[in-house]
Amino acid sequence: MKVLVIGGGGREHALAWKFAQSERVTEVLVAPGSDGIDDEQGCRSVAIREDDHEGLIALAKKENVALTMVGPEAPLVAGLVDDFLAAGLTVFGPSKAAAEIEGSKQFAKDIMKKYEIPTATYESFTNLVDAKAYVKRVGVPIVVKADGLAAGKGVVVAESESEALTALDEMMTAKKFGDAGASVVIEECLRGEELSYMAFVHGKTVVPMVTAQDHKRAFEGDTGPNTGGMGAYSPVPHLDGDWLKEAEATVLRPMAEAMVAEGVPFTGILYGGLMITEKGPKVIEFNARFGDPETQVILPRLKSDLVDVIERVLDGEEVSLSWTDQACVGVVLASEGYPGSYEKGIPFQLPDVNDTENQLWFHAGSVKDKNEVDGWKTNGGRVLLLSTMAPSLKVALDGTYDVLNQHSWNGLFYRKDIAHQLK
Ligand code: AMP
Ligand code: GLY
Repeated sequence: MKVLVIGGGGREHALAWKFAQSERVTEVLVAPGSDGIDDEQGCRSVAIREDDHEGLIALAKKENVALTMVGPEAPLVAGLVDDFLAAGLTVFGPSKAAAEIEGSKQFAKDIMKKYEIPTATYESFTNLVDAKAYVKRVGVPIVVKADGLAAGKGVVVAESESEALTALDEMMTAKKFGDAGASVVIEECLRGEELSYMAFVHGKTVVPMVTAQDHKRAFEGDTGPNTGGMGAYSPVPHLDGDWLKEAEATVLRPMAEAMVAEGVPFTGILYGGLMITEKGPKVIEFNARFGDPETQVILPRLKSDLVDVIERVLDGEEVSLSWTDQACVGVVLASEGYPGSYEKGIPFQLPDVNDTENQLWFHAGSVKDKNEVDGWKTNGGRVLLLSTMAPSLKVALDGTYDVLNQHSWNGLFYRKDIAHQLK
């Protein structure tokens, strides 16, 4: 059978690579894909944009695609899954309505409140005077969030009252995030460590995966601006264990059930962004898709056939997943300047890995340099991720940094402290 993956980043490279391992899969098409994905055995990029719903449906029909998986959130929120289903195609992802758990903070928060899913207490405001009065009444620390999508930048964790009030002025009066800040959510500040916990979901069928920890800040020591994620590792031994059973029972299952009860059943990957607090796991956010870069360290650990898993979940079966005991670490190489402005087109070479069995380059913002044999050029903010599987996290970390540190990366940077929480 043929599988179609929508998207072209590092997460989609990992998905395509994993689908291609399946003995049942003859070819993985990826739209729009990338040069890096094209180099992957059994994978072929097709230059159709992820917002070209008609083009994607025509491709799936022409190529007799048996299963489609959507990587990024934008096409989900735009209703790509609805259009595929209407065309009679099999697709694993949420409808436009169900994808609102990621597309609208308010929608997700209201469901969590109604179904008592643990999350930070919050209030929404459209009036600056009321918002400021609330901050003064509740006190700090407090979190101010632009309600709409602000590319992950519309969140201020304020330690002082003046910081919170300034954030409100910037969002609501100066319109720093445009209309996204016309309405704000003011939240309780949760203390603890963050953990990404994802599950394959179809209606009330919930199959949780192993967890990963992402590193959202750009620089070492978790400083600098928020990014899409600078690296990840799995397992997360100091947070796994009893918390996971609790989070499955209080977060993932009740959310899937709540979506059914609300008449917007969820199908696809339900991503719980959790804060593990002293009082247990609480939700920071839900996403409606695989995490990036979490996918690049979780899928290498999955021994089960990904096509089998998805088909069985779509049949309502709570299949038990098979995982390797090995650990996996992934470190992102990003363009200097990311997540702010950065240059594109900087040439680089891909160094050989030390362990060809267990080390993988996942491409994100890269293109082949047509003028240079084996040459590449940067083409985005997050450019590459090197993932390493090894018997322990320590060996996986050493293996990753051995490759990265031996090479000079002109115009690129990476965090040297991935998994620092372990020490
Ligand atoms: P979000 O865009 O909602 O995922 O928030 C971005 C980042 O801000 C999260 O990954 C957390 O590090 C931080 N954050 C968001 N909400 C809270 C909260 N209620 N308490 C503490 N930190 C938060
Ligand atoms: N790594 C965080 C996310 O995918 O949203």
